[in-house]
Amino acid sequence: PRPGWVIEADVVVVGSGVAGLTAALRCAAAGRRTVIVTKARLDAGSTRWAQGGIAAALGRGDTPEQHLVDTLVAGADLCDETAVRTLVTEGPGAVRRLIEAGARFDTSPETGEIELTREGGHHRRRIAHAGGDATGAEISRALVTAVRDAGLETVENALVLDLLKDADGRAAGVSLHVMGEGRHDGVGAVHAPAVVLATGGMGQVFSATTNPAVSTGDGVALALRAGAEVSDLEFVQFHPTVLYLGAGSEGQQPLVSEAVRGEGAHLVDADGVRFMVGHHELAELAPRDIVAKAITRRMREQGTDHMYLDARHFGARMWKERFPTILAACRAHGIDPVTEPIPVAPAAHYASGGVRTDLAGRTTVPGLYACGEVACTGVHGANRLASNSLLEGLVFAERIADDIVRAPVRTPVPVVPDEERTVPPLPPEARYAIQRTMTAGAGVLRSAESLARAASELEALAAGPSDASGAPGKPAEPGVESWETANLHLVARVLVAAARRRTETRGCHWREDHPDRDDASWRRHLVVALRPTAE
Ligand code: SIN
Repeated sequence: PRPGWVIEADVVVVGSGVAGLTAALRCAAAGRRTVIVTKARLDAGSTRWAQGGIAAALGRGDTPEQHLVDTLVAGADLCDETAVRTLVTEGPGAVRRLIEAGARFDTSPETGEIELTREGGHHRRRIAHAGGDATGAEISRALVTAVRDAGLETVENALVLDLLKDADGRAAGVSLHVMGEGRHDGVGAVHAPAVVLATGGMGQVFSATTNPAVSTGDGVALALRAGAEVSDLEFVQFHPTVLYLGAGSEGQQPLVSEAVRGEGAHLVDADGVRFMVGHHELAELAPRDIVAKAITRRMREQGTDHMYLDARHFGARMWKERFPTILAACRAHGIDPVTEPIPVAPAAHYASGGVRTDLAGRTTVPGLYACGEVACTGVHGANRLASNSLLEGLVFAERIADDIVRAPVRTPVPVVPDEERTVPPLPPEARYAIQRTMTAGAGVLRSAESLARAASELEALAAGPSDASGAPGKPAEPGVESWETANLHLVARVLVAAARRRTETRGCHWREDHPDRDDASWRRHLVVALRPTAE
């Protein structure tokens, strides 16, 4: 589609979670004309749903070195140690700057110090939280307020379509489809020599996820079409304790934070037995992949589709003060955690992989940066440590902004039209087929057979719509839903291809037919690029 309007800027930031807003604020503070574009409202992404908190070595007796060790262990020997060291050493300062920007974390009434909780894989209390279990909502509130106060230009309801490039193959902006935003309605573009992708994750590629509806893998799909390298897509993290709403529940499901286990909740099976005790030295607080696998195994053994999280011993007051969001969500679904165990099951939660970057957040396409869940900086390896994601968004967004403002402002250069790169829409109905296929074939448990089935079902969808006789039907109408469906389809295909190739079990990639870790062949990353980059 041809752009009907154009905004000129020095930096365009795509996405408005912790990563996008942090990058935008820092670029703007350094005097760069910065435009934020985001798919729904400024606060609609995953950040505001984050419950447990943000991990950083802020407590007495804790050190970045110990945070590093826990992160490397959770990542199952696939983290980039330099990237992790950067995360854990710059993390505490980045959290303090977030507090200066207006975020209010829970503090101890006695000491006034930030209260810290525990989550899976952490050997220390290291997780700062806000509003009890509404950490992301507070971070989002603070950053959105700062963006509004700074008067940054924002375009909401803007689905990013594709990366624009100049004649040298450098990023030169993005094309967008905007709905109902006055003078920026319809297909348009932001021209800018620095493009920051902060579009979040791809949880909607599965039927049940903790991710909001906007998490459709748009950034990874854009980067793939633009020729950028993408890595580690097979490592999809399934959160172990998502409120179980009944068989076949689809879309965003309520999270029951790991911090509930951090404060002492027990995971019990259908017979009321604590099955994590004796299974791992950290019991319920083992790294997430281990807990999700143990739950899945126990569900299979007992022929059920959920387990229980028992935190009745917290009592009504602690539930109300410490976990008000989760308490309200459970009660809204007819469960009272004060008097009964909470039914829980794993659901898709976090993409540990994404668009490959260096330590300055640069992708393999010059001028294109990525941070937050869309990126693969190397800090998560095969399985992200709980509450490292908000921290990663902060730290690497700051690094991106510093890299951008270190360079002189580039004069705008003409954008080269590239019809081939333009996203071809798929019928919106195909989304449900993609989600069902992915959940059945590439979910918590995978095998060569299940993945081959998923690959061929996705292939069939690629052929586009067909009529009752199997003949090609009408092509999908361009529009937000059909473009999103095309993005979901592209990331699903690449994810399945990577999961088929990795013939081992590591971190959150669990192959039933290859149950062991294979360091000799697979202590390495799978990197995909759909087309050669401009270099
Ligand atoms: C949670 O609160 O359990 C989620 C934390 C995370 O995903 O890092």
